Amino acid sequence: MSKAMFEPIKEELKLLEEGLLNSVSSDKDIINEIASHVVRAGGKRLRPALSLLSAKAGKNYSAKKVLPLAVSLELIHTATLAHDDVIDGAGTRRGAATLNTKWGNQIAILGGDFLFARAFAMVAKQNYAPYVNYRISELIANLCEGEILQDHSAHVALKDYNVYYERIKNKTADFLEVATELGGFVSGVTKEEQEGLRRFGHAIGMAFQVTDDILDLEKTEEELGKPAAHDLVCGIVTLPVIYTLKESKRAGELAAIVTDEHMTLEMEDRAIEIVRESGGIDFAKSEVKRFLDDARNSIPATIPNDVRDSFLMVADFIASRSF
Ligand code: IPE
Ligand code: IPE
Ligand code: MG
Ligand code: MG
Repeated sequence: MSKAMFEPIKEELKLLEEGLLNSVSSDKDIINEIASHVVRAGGKRLRPALSLLSAKAGKNYSAKKVLPLAVSLELIHTATLAHDDVIDGAGTRRGAATLNTKWGNQIAILGGDFLFARAFAMVAKQNYAPYVNYRISELIANLCEGEILQDHSAHVALKDYNVYYERIKNKTADFLEVATELGGFVSGVTKEEQEGLRRFGHAIGMAFQVTDDILDLEKTEEELGKPAAHDLVCGIVTLPVIYTLKESKRAGELAAIVTDEHMTLEMEDRAIEIVRESGGIDFAKSEVKRFLDDARNSIPATIPNDVRDSFLMVADFIASRSF
C-alpha cells in the first residue's frame, strides 16, 4: 500500500489508531487483551480511510467530528471478521492467530459483540443525524444477509452471476458505500457529491470483493495473512468458479468437486487448475476492471484535487493488491 494513497489524511490515521485502542479499553485485563489483539493485528484500514478521505470533500470538515465515525466503522468491520472466522473455522487473520484459535469460538463471538457495542456507543455519543445510525445498522443487516445467503448455498454449483453479485453487494460493497457516503455526509457535502461518493464506494466495494475472491484462489496463506483456497474448501462458489461452471468443457468435473463436502487437497488443486485454465480468473479480473471504471467515473467533479488523486490511487490499489 503506497503512502501517497492516504497522504491527505495521514495525521488522522495516526489518531485513528489511538482512537481504536481507546475505544476497546476495559478495566478487565482479559478484555483488554482480547480486544487489543485484533486491533493491534492491523489490517488495511480501508473503510475508515475512505470515510476520512470523503469527509475531506465537505465544507464543514472537522477531524474531531469524523474520527469517531471512522473508528466505529473499523470496529464494526473487525467484529464482522471475528464472527466470519468462527463461521469459516479460519485459523489466521491479518497475519495473526484469530480470536477463535487463540481463545475459542465462545470468546470470539462475545469479543465481536463487544466491538459492535463499543462502536454503537461511540456513534451514539456524537449527535450525528439519525441517518448515520440508520445507514450503519442497515449495513450490518445487509452484511448478515449476505453471509447467511452464502452459507445457505454452500457446496451448490452456482451458475448465476446475479446471485453472486447480490451476495457481495450485501456482504462487502454496502460497507464501503456507507464509509464513503457517511464520511461526506457528516462534513456537509452537497446532495450530488453524497450520491457520487456513495456510487464510488459501491463500485470499489464490488471490485474489492471480486479481487478478494481471486486472491483466495491465487495466493498462499503466508501472502494473504489468512487461509488460502478457503472459499473453495468451504464450498463458497465465487466468480471465477461460476464462470468456469458456465463456460468450461470441464464444468462437470469442477461441479463434482465444489459440491463435495469432503474435498481433499488433490481435489482442491485440481479445481484451481480447471478454473485457471478455463479463463475463470481472467474473466473475474475483467469484471474488476469494469467496476473500477465505474468507480473512477463516479468520483464527484467538485471534490478537492488531493482527495480525487487519493481515490484514483485507491482504485489502482484494489486492482493490483496482493493481500
Ligand atoms: C476482509 O476485508 C473482508 C472482505 C471484505 C474481503 P479487508 O481485506 O479489508 O480486511 P483487513 O481489514 O485488511 O484485515
Ligand atoms: C467477507 O468475505 C467477510 C465479511 C463480510 C465479514 P470473505 O469471507 O471473503 O472474507 P475473508 O476472505 O475471510 O477475509
Ligand atoms: Mg471468510
Ligand atoms: Mg475471502
